[in-house]
Amino acid sequence: MRIVEAFDIYRFYHVEEEETLALRGVSLSVESEEIVAVQGPSGSGKTTLLSCLSGLDEPDGGYVTIMGKHITRKPEVERAKIRAQMVGIMLQSGNLFGHLSVEDNIKLQMHLSGKIDTVWLDKLIEEVGLTERRYAFPMHLSGGESARAGLAVAMAAKPVLLLADEPTGEVDFNTEKQILSLLDEYRKKGNAVLIVTHSNAVANFANRIIHLFDGRIVNNE
Ligand SMILES: Nc1ncnc2c1ncn2[C@@H]1O[C@H](COP(=O)(O)OP(=O)(O)OP(=O)(O)O)[C@@H](O)[C@H]1O
Ligand SMILES: [Mg+2]
Repeated sequence: MRIVEAFDIYRFYHVEEEETLALRGVSLSVESEEIVAVQGPSGSGKTTLLSCLSGLDEPDGGYVTIMGKHITRKPEVERAKIRAQMVGIMLQSGNLFGHLSVEDNIKLQMHLSGKIDTVWLDKLIEEVGLTERRYAFPMHLSGGESARAGLAVAMAAKPVLLLADEPTGEVDFNTEKQILSLLDEYRKKGNAVLIVTHSNAVANFANRIIHLFDGRIVNNE
């Protein structure tokens, strides 16, 4: 089953007279039970792509569907509803509310989507290796711990589409392995995962790798 599809996405940024062509005609789809890795140099458009796929950002051209529903050029309330129910997104930073503990950040996401599951809450915290940091506040977390907490928040509502920007960017080898097995288990439940990663271990683990260069897909394995 097709979980997400992007058709001919364009995204341009304008800062004064300067124009950046961040995405230039990107098309892709991710099926249920697939993990797809996105790789490419800094500035190639990876984060922009994730933002457009999640509906956090609007492409200037093309469209995105999630579970067959168009999310592009829809009112923000509608996009927010689809996002809350179907998409989990872990960005490179800013995934956690500073005044809430790790546990409360995850719980808030569950509340927002109306899917409260305390068994899943405990399992998630354990699997991302944050049992000891469960009641810690974001300002007291290391980079790797913040990344793992962000991933747990993204997975809290069991979204059918999980988008993660460098989920193992700042974690050690063992934690990376743990996160990969969590993602694999997640995928097997029928979900789709798209991860931006510089890690070759993560890319090799994925079912497919999409290479972005200068806003375009250069090859699609
Ligand atoms: N809000 C913005 N305003 C203007 N330009 C932007 C904005 N966001 C991104 N860009 C530009 O668009 C291009 C793509 O940026 P993007 O963040 O998608 O790259 P990336 O592949 O995620 O890079 P990195 O690996 O460093 O995270 C870059 O040239 C960037 O400078
Ligand atoms: Mg980025």
